[in-house]
Amino acid sequence: MKALVLTGGRGTRLRPLTHTSAKQLVPVANRPVLFYGLEAIRDAGITEVGIVTGDTGAEVRAAVGDGSRFGFHATYIPQEAPLGLAHCVLIARDFLGDEDFVLYLGDNLLIGGIKDLLTGFQDSGHAARLLLSKVAEPQFYGVAELDRDGAIASLQEKPQVPRSDLAIVGVYAFSPVVHEAVRAIRPSARGELEITDAIQWLIDRGHRVDPHIVSGYWKDTGRLQDILECNRILLEEIETDVRGVVAGYSEIGGRVVVHPDAVIEDSVLRGPVIIGAGTKIVRSYVGPFTSVAESCVIEDAEIEYSIVLGGSTIEGVPRIEYSLIGRDVEVTRAVHLPNAHRLMVGDHSKVQLRI
Ligand code: G1P
Repeated sequence: MKALVLTGGRGTRLRPLTHTSAKQLVPVANRPVLFYGLEAIRDAGITEVGIVTGDTGAEVRAAVGDGSRFGFHATYIPQEAPLGLAHCVLIARDFLGDEDFVLYLGDNLLIGGIKDLLTGFQDSGHAARLLLSKVAEPQFYGVAELDRDGAIASLQEKPQVPRSDLAIVGVYAFSPVVHEAVRAIRPSARGELEITDAIQWLIDRGHRVDPHIVSGYWKDTGRLQDILECNRILLEEIETDVRGVVAGYSEIGGRVVVHPDAVIEDSVLRGPVIIGAGTKIVRSYVGPFTSVAESCVIEDAEIEYSIVLGGSTIEGVPRIEYSLIGRDVEVTRAVHLPNAHRLMVGDHSKVQLRI
């Protein structure tokens, strides 16, 4: 069995971060979301992993390398444009050969791994097995409807009127018959070869497609609120490990991880919190569910329920929460009059000032 991991896509809902980086590399609990998926694949015993890349291919390659640090062999398959999930399968034909495979969307976080999904699939003789999860807003996902035997009867991609509340999770197991389907289908109204259309094609030709309901936590991390929630869920699991320098009147409570090269000075850290390498927290408060990546400075500031990416500075700002702050960003206090906010924010940024 092989795996095909998708890391392309435009990530429009996470702009401006995705103007410059891959959405799959946004860190949650200080590790790229993609890495959790790659580990789940490795833990399922898969050693051949194809990685479909888009515009951010170089960055993905730099992060994942040849796969040896995860314990598998990575093969990169560039996709010239985001032409759909089924298009990714189409261009990976040579890599996939005639083996069963798992298709994994790199921005999906699935706690509990994929072993359950794959158990028994290869012996089942079925065309595909889809992970499904009950969701409150199925209209934002692919939606599956089951028949009386419990097989999947039909699929709809982001329907206005969903026929069920079972969303298609971005992790699928396929037998090689799917290659016929991806060759046969035509682009959808949004101009993409949809994997849901390929699976529907299989069902319409009498192939059996089984559901597998997710028992653990699942999130597609496409939006800010989802990334922050994933960060919260992962931080809830961390074990306290404070190795950096903790100096002055500092107070550390709850589950907190401080990298050996980080410095905490006269600050309050109320976990769960994770602080990355080379980061300095000075005269500040870092509240629950906050991940601060490497080489940041937080000084005379307060922050909680947020993610701060590498190299950023937050200085003299009373309270930040529910925020995702990109790389090498400066959020500082304006010291000179007039008494006004001064912003230089990238395209598609979102700033909420509480005045
Ligand atoms: C894709 C699939 C959709 C699925 C979702 C899960 O949508 O097309 O069926 O429910 O992933 O993450 P996308 O998020 O690429 O729009």
